[in-house]
Amino acid sequence: RIAGPCALVIFGVTGDLARRKLMPAVYDLANRGLLPPGFALVGFARRDWDDQDFGKVVHDAVREHSRTPFREDVWERLSEGLRFVQGSFDDPASFSELASTLHTLDRERGSGGNHGFYLAIPPAAFPVVLKQLSEAGLARSDDGQWKRVVIEKPFGHDLDSARELNAVVNQVFPEDTVFRIDHYLGKETVQNILALRFANQLFDPIWNAHYVDHVQITMAEDIGLGGRAGYYDGIGAARDVIQNHLLQLLAFTAMEEPISFEPSELQAEKIKVLSATRLAEPLDETTARGQYAGGWQGGLPVVGLLEEEGFAADSTTETFAAITLEVDTRRWAGVPFYLRTGKRLGRRVTEIAVVFKRAPHLPFDQTMTEELGQNALVIRVQPDEGVTMRFGSKVPGSSMEVRDVNMDFSYGQAFTESSPEAYERLILDMLLGEPSLFPVNAEVELSWEILDPVLAHWAAEGKPEPYEAGTWGPPSADEMMRRTGREWRRP
Ligand code: BG6
Repeated sequence: RIAGPCALVIFGVTGDLARRKLMPAVYDLANRGLLPPGFALVGFARRDWDDQDFGKVVHDAVREHSRTPFREDVWERLSEGLRFVQGSFDDPASFSELASTLHTLDRERGSGGNHGFYLAIPPAAFPVVLKQLSEAGLARSDDGQWKRVVIEKPFGHDLDSARELNAVVNQVFPEDTVFRIDHYLGKETVQNILALRFANQLFDPIWNAHYVDHVQITMAEDIGLGGRAGYYDGIGAARDVIQNHLLQLLAFTAMEEPISFEPSELQAEKIKVLSATRLAEPLDETTARGQYAGGWQGGLPVVGLLEEEGFAADSTTETFAAITLEVDTRRWAGVPFYLRTGKRLGRRVTEIAVVFKRAPHLPFDQTMTEELGQNALVIRVQPDEGVTMRFGSKVPGSSMEVRDVNMDFSYGQAFTESSPEAYERLILDMLLGEPSLFPVNAEVELSWEILDPVLAHWAAEGKPEPYEAGTWGPPSADEMMRRTGREWRRP
């Protein structure tokens, strides 16, 4: 699948995302031969740069962050199609300039009027950029051409603002040309949830409330928020990743089999399961929220959020959030889904653990099964990508002692193919006009609908509970599990 002739415009080209993810992903695509010969990358920003300056920035970003080896010939070819347009979001003249740059590229490099616009900018700037694109005629496609827009999260702040934003977006770009990025869907291990569930006979019979006790979805990070106050303060962990990444993981784990992998069929199943999902109550018992204080990480002392540069000394932004969800369907009735995420936790790990009920009867001497836990299937999203199955096994020796063991599938051992970076996959899909891995409007709104009550609950509560950096979150998170007789896994 190689993209056809086109140009990609990135707004927010001086930002972190563009430098760390987008530019390297474009290079990696070029390196794998997946971009068309005349491909053009256009940067738009206020910075006083020319094409050469922009080229240097892209070059440095590629050298530092790309996945694939650096090759002079690939770089040479890519750099011929680099252009920079200096301008500000509220200046119509800058957008006329962008239009004329794109027309020139259409002529000289054969982009053919096919243009993708990637908004890697603060959400507050979405409306003005969309309006300018529309007024400059850049959102309109003639026959046989395409125009698409890629929108980074956060998509809104709550349900109402997401609806307003959707209305603004759809005034300019019809829904089938809007690509909302949730980069978790670009990850191999996330797409593999669908293969694991729907390509096998092994798991489906037990993938339901008869056999599953509960599901834990964890996205833990060890990094803090130094340097990200501008984005994160006032947003917090729930809006940053539960509303999008973790609810998408839940949807993949809990949804019914789609009729096919046609985008509309896949989306229909996700929409259905998200419509059936709601917070368990009462919220002060089924949720937990925390903010990291100073502590130790990797043997080094680290400061708490309130000492990080840019955060208000009385910031109530949570850096840890845990919620309990119920999925009201025949398959999942009574099975809690526990979602948690946090910064400055024990280690970086994302996993989905499907934890099974205990065997209804154990014909063993009780002392022989003291180290037998519950069976679990753990989908290791990252960093040690793979799947683990945990079950009991006889301990070698003369007694019938049973203990938990793990059976592992690891990407590193099973495949020689390397996984493309999430952004690489998603940028390519957008250029191909393949929307399966992009959440639609309805999913975004449903996710806010699920989350809004707890956001309001926390806002009324005030300060989150502090937790020591390098631990697994605030005591209330453990308390929340203990109340139901369960505990968090320690990945
Ligand atoms: C982003 C969040 O969406 O995902 C960040 O805004 C987070 O706060 C990042 O650090 C994590 O992504 P990944 O791919 O490293 O798990």
